[in-house]
Formats: sequence, C-alpha cells, structure tokens
Amino acid sequence: IPIDRYRNFSIVAHVDHGKSTLSDRLLELTGVIEPGSNKQVLDKLDVERERGITVKAQTCTMIYNHKNKDYLLHLVDTPGHVDFRQEVSRSYASCGGALLLVDASQGVQAQTVANFHLADDLGLELVPVINKIDLPHADVPRVTEQLFDMFGLLDPVAISAKAGLHVEKVLPAIVERIPPPTGKLDQPLKSLLVDSWFDPFLGVILLVHIVDGKVSKGTKIMSAHTGFKYEVKEVGIMYPERVSTKNLSAGQLGYIITGMKRSQDAHIGDTFMQVNHPVEALPGFEEVKPMVFLGAFPAEGANFEQLEESIEQLTLNDRSVTLQKESSNALGQGWRLGFLGTLHASVFKERLEKEHGGSLIFTAPTVPYKIVEKDGTERIVTNPDDFPQMTSGAMGVKDLQEPFVEATIHTPPEYVGQVVQLCQAFRGQQSDVEYLANGQVCAKFLIPLAELVDDFFGKLKGATKGYASLDYEDAGYQSSQIVKLELLVNGNSVDALAKVMHVSQVDEKGRIWVDKFKEYMRYQLFEIILQARCGNRIIARSTVKAKRKDVLHKLHAADITRRKKLLAKQKEGKNRMQSVGRVHIPQEAYQGFLARD
Ligand code: GTP
Repeated sequence: IPIDRYRNFSIVAHVDHGKSTLSDRLLELTGVIEPGSNKQVLDKLDVERERGITVKAQTCTMIYNHKNKDYLLHLVDTPGHVDFRQEVSRSYASCGGALLLVDASQGVQAQTVANFHLADDLGLELVPVINKIDLPHADVPRVTEQLFDMFGLLDPVAISAKAGLHVEKVLPAIVERIPPPTGKLDQPLKSLLVDSWFDPFLGVILLVHIVDGKVSKGTKIMSAHTGFKYEVKEVGIMYPERVSTKNLSAGQLGYIITGMKRSQDAHIGDTFMQVNHPVEALPGFEEVKPMVFLGAFPAEGANFEQLEESIEQLTLNDRSVTLQKESSNALGQGWRLGFLGTLHASVFKERLEKEHGGSLIFTAPTVPYKIVEKDGTERIVTNPDDFPQMTSGAMGVKDLQEPFVEATIHTPPEYVGQVVQLCQAFRGQQSDVEYLANGQVCAKFLIPLAELVDDFFGKLKGATKGYASLDYEDAGYQSSQIVKLELLVNGNSVDALAKVMHVSQVDEKGRIWVDKFKEYMRYQLFEIILQARCGNRIIARSTVKAKRKDVLHKLHAADITRRKKLLAKQKEGKNRMQSVGRVHIPQEAYQGFLARD
C-alpha cells in the first residue's frame, strides 16, 4: 500500500462521549477484532477500564477497502484526561486528522474545546462525528449547529457507536476527508516517539511515527534527546496486538523493540534517527513535569522489599512517574512519588492499593512550591517538610510561589452562581465569562493547582448536579501567601503530616487537625500534648489524657474477623510503634488521620 493511501487519525472527545466504543466498532468493521467481542481493546489496563478513563495511549492499524483500493488506517488513541495533555499533543502530531466526537445529548464540553484547539493548532483536519443519537435526549440539529458555530465544522456524521448505527459512514469520511501523511521514504530516518510501555521479557517497547525514511531489524538508531544508541531487534504494527513486519516506512505508526531497559529513557516527543544519518529533531518536545507529589510508606508489619519491588515495577510501566526514596521520623523509610496530575496520582495509588491493600500509608498530596532566596536563586520543594518555617519576606527568603492553572468550566447557566462561589472558595479569580451559542456558559478562572488537587472537581460536579465540565492549563508560578502548617506531638513536628497552604486556611485547618488526630490517640499510656503550629505561632492545642488502649473503639460490632485481627496485633506488643521524639504513636493513628484528611 503506497503512502498516499495511509490515513493517520485520532479521536478527539470529551470523557465519556464514546471514544472507546467507536474505536471498537471501527476495529470490528475492518475485521481487526470479532464483532460483539466488546473488548474495548484500546482501554487495556484494568483500572482504566473500571474507571472508564483512558490513561495510556494505544494505537491500532486497520486495513480498509474503499472503492476497490486498500487503505492503511492508523488509529492513534489518546489519553482522555487533561493531566496527559503533552502526550495528547504528541499523538496528534503524528496524525493528519481527527474525528471530533461529540455526545448528541450533551453537546460540546470543556475538554472537546481544549482538545479541538490542540488539534487545530497542529493543523489537523477535523471530521465532526455526533455520537449517541439513539439517546432520548439526543438533539442532532442543535449539536450540528454548535459544531459549526464553535469550530466552523460542517457535515457531521451522526451515529450511535453503541447500537452500531451509521458507524460504517465513518470510515469513508476518514479516507476522503483526512489527508495522507507527507513523509519521504528516500530521506534519512526521522521518527517521533508517541508512546512507550514496558514488557517484562522484551524491555521498553517504543511506539513511533515514522516521519521520513524507514526502519527495520538491525537498523542502528539514536535518541535526539538522550544521545543513547540502540540496535533495532524487531519492528511491526499493532493489530491490535504486536504483529512483526519487515520494516516500518514513512507515514506508518508501529512499534520498535530495541532492548531499552528503563522506561525513563523513553521521552515522549523525542526524535529517533539513524546513527550515521543525523537529522534535525522534530519540534514540540517537552520534558514531563510532575505536578502532584505524595509520600508512600509501608504500614506496620508490611514487607518493605515487596512493596519496593511493586512500586518499581509500576514506575517501569509508567515513565511519567518520578520516584525517590525518603525517610520520615513518623513513618520510617518510604518513597516520594511525583505525578503529572491528580488523576494520574489516583490511578497509580489505586493500582498499588489493589495489590497491597492496607499495607501502604500515603501522605496528603502536595504540589511543588517555588522558593526564591534573597540572592535570587530558586528552588522547588516537593515535600512540605522541606518548606521554610517563616513566612514570605522573612530571613533568607525573598518570595514564595505556588503553581496556578487556568481552569475552563462549561456549565448550564442556572449553575453559574454556584460555580463562581465554589471557585472563589477555592481561591480562584474569575478571568472571563462567556455565554455560548449552545446555551451553556463558559467561565475561566485562575486557580491555584493545590486547590484542584483538593477535590475541586468532585465539589464542582456536586454543585452542578454533574453538568459542569472542567479543563485546565498550566498558568505558571505566582507569588502567594503560603505557609507551612505542622502537627506537633509533645513539641516535635510530625514530618509526614506537614502541609503547605494559604495563610487564610491555617487557623481552621490547625484546629481540625488537632481534633482529628486526638480521635486516634485515645489509648495513650502517658499524657501527650498535640499542637498545630504555623511559623512560631501555635494555632491549636489539645491534651490527650493517659488511658488504656482500646483498639476496638472504632469498629463496628459485627466486624468479627477484623476484631480478631486487631486483638492479635495488639497482643504482639507495642515494640513496633514508630516514635516521634520520645512518644510512641501507633501507626493506625497516622493511617486513620491521613485517610480522612
Ligand atoms: P474515556 O475513555 O473516558 O475517554 O471515555 P470514552 O469516550 O472512551 O467513552 P466510552 O466509549 O467508554 O463510552 C462511555 C459510555 O457511553 C459507555 O457507557 C458507553 O456504553 C456509552 N456509549 C458509547 N456510545 C454510545 C451510543 O452510541 N449510545 C449510547 N446510548 N451510549 C453510548
């Protein structure tokens, strides 16, 4: 099949508008998978499937016969969440066009708009598709008008991916409306790294878009970013699993196996070229920037080595997680993990919890803070415990900054009041409000990333009965009145509980902390003093009276197995308790406190 009969495309959609369902239908129509197997092939990972969120991009090749000619179609799937914006843009960069998929009952949502602009900026040809026309609330004329008003897109294909209605019209539209790739086969190899994943037997598998030239077994390739060299061991296409081919040539998307060992060496957006034929690196490469951090510590009695192995295994598979050892006075030896965003963090956490249940304690998530010293040097703090004690302007520190995002919220007009109120409560500043042609309101806010991490999205959904949609973009660091709040036990700070927050929040939070922690401390042998401290100000204080330890007070009477377990644990003695200063605190206290904070 010649290059002018290749079509590389993505599906641009808001979460839940039916991207995976449509992908499956297209694979069925082209015979890649059995009809009705209902596999959601492209949503491979368990947790993703359970949550219905695509986290990892996958791609699949199809062969489609149109007017007696075979076409090679590459569907490049993209992660469905804003945390992965950078990966989405690299996926789009390997495409000539995209299907812009919109739910017929919901119409255009925040992520549709954001992804449209991302694709449009990269020059993609967009084919509008209206999905879920089988729904009773489907309003095809309205969505058609909206697609034109908002994006200037005409002639949408109206389908029901679930019912299989009119889906067959999508393939000819792809062939006729999306341009073929423009690469040159006779040029030196130039390829874009679109995705990678880890295979325990084969090492890191690279998913690449061959822009120019070709690659086959034995080709010696080099990364433009790391300079590392590799010999290609196998190439092939995804169909939907790996199928090896003789070579991959200009315009194609496929996988390369090189024996690369560390996922961290695979940088999405990197250019791979032939060792002896250097070419200019492709534009748009950006290093991933973790924006949400949390500590993970083994709970009492957990097997440290086992946890370490499984955390390392998971990071092998996810090159965007950063991992560092850390140690805490309260929780002992553990790890600091960095993630692209909150969803990324929660998916990873769930995977770990699924495997290890209660044997891990996670600290509260934090964003990175920037500290500008008096001499102008800057440093980024990813562990609240390392945040300076004093407030801005105090000794040694010139400025304290926190990351902000620009949030775009689409909501029906009747909820605008609640949305504005909520954003203000989360320290957001409104920057723009617009009434859209579709009757919705689009509001923009500048809001600290830390507030988004703190369940902003959940509260937004609650305030708007689930109708609002949210998208956000990095807006850089800004000066802010941020301080560190600490919890002290008999005068000693518990490092793992420290948190950075806005100065306006410390008083309330400090009181809550002391009360909450006290609940888990009823069973002390000696009297202890709990305090919440900010700088040198004590915000709240409480004394825990000496009392017999009653491990069962929090349990439901019927929970017999758990009761027995706890009693057995108690019998084992108190020598495994961690100590802060000279006070022994059972880990259950931290665990309970952190789980509820
Ligand atoms: P992400 O992976 O999170 O981006 O979601 P998605 O866009 O891939 O959505 P998915 O295909 O998982 O579909 C979301 C929900 O909509 C599922 O419950 C589907 O069964 C349903 N759905 C998809 N297409 C249709 C359709 O044509 N009609 C109806 N009624 N439901 C559909």
